[in-house]
Amino acid sequence: MQTSSLAALKEHALHCARSAGKLSLARMREPFTVEYKTSASDLVTAVDKEVEKHVIDLILAKYPDHGILGEERTFAGDPSQFDTLWVIDPIDGTTNFVHQQINFSVSIAVYHKGEGLVGAVYDPSRDELFYAVRGEGAFLNDRPLRLERHVRLEEALLCTSVFWNERAEQMGIDQIVKKLAGKVRGMRLLGSAALEMAYVAAGRLDGYVSLSLNAWDFGAGRIIVEEAGGRVTSMAGTPLPFDQKSSVMACNPAFYEELQHYLNLSESNG
Ligand code: IPD
Ligand code: CA
Ligand code: CA
Repeated sequence: MQTSSLAALKEHALHCARSAGKLSLARMREPFTVEYKTSASDLVTAVDKEVEKHVIDLILAKYPDHGILGEERTFAGDPSQFDTLWVIDPIDGTTNFVHQQINFSVSIAVYHKGEGLVGAVYDPSRDELFYAVRGEGAFLNDRPLRLERHVRLEEALLCTSVFWNERAEQMGIDQIVKKLAGKVRGMRLLGSAALEMAYVAAGRLDGYVSLSLNAWDFGAGRIIVEEAGGRVTSMAGTPLPFDQKSSVMACNPAFYEELQHYLNLSESNG
């Protein structure tokens, strides 16, 4: 892709992220409906769908030949048919959106033939925009993000959501995470995978681990962490897909191997 078109793509992705975030903040202050998806802990609101539709309209108004893979599936086309694919989560952290009115984000990534070009994660309640362009670095509100501090595992603040997952228990991952908790400085859980990955890029967290995420949860965060100098793979150490579910580990590069060793004490955790 040419530099000029990459710059335009970046500007539009950032515009979409800001616009979506502002819309979700405005809607949060009005009554909205909440529905259960698969269970009482798997929520979707009318705002998730409205914001996704808003982002899709913005993307297609400028790039009518691009495809979109969005969590709420409001894009009419088949995402697998497009060379350039926008991978979007209109509200990542819907439970926080409903309960806390903070700690949720918009996640927007642009992939071309499977290569991540632009990633944007916007936290509207703090007005923080984390973004990256492939080969051009990562930024928080235009401040460059660079993971230069060498962090040892014992000094790390880790973030994971695998404790309370039934599958994690069956695979023994909950035990591994328990063990890990004794090796690191502290464990956190914010409830928005996209934001948690952006925080790894910003050095607010040193690592993030999840057993199973959708492509729209990690699509943008992965580009931002990599461009900040961090490492992102599946828990088995394989490259992340751009359009499929995967386990995820994203961290300061200094302790990647050590963390990976702990996560691979389980039999199958790809
Ligand atoms: C969820 C959040 C959460 C992660 C879940 C995701 P949603 O996304 O990212 O942190 O643990 O796996 O499904 O449903 O709020 O968009
Ligand atoms: Ca999500
Ligand atoms: Ca979502």
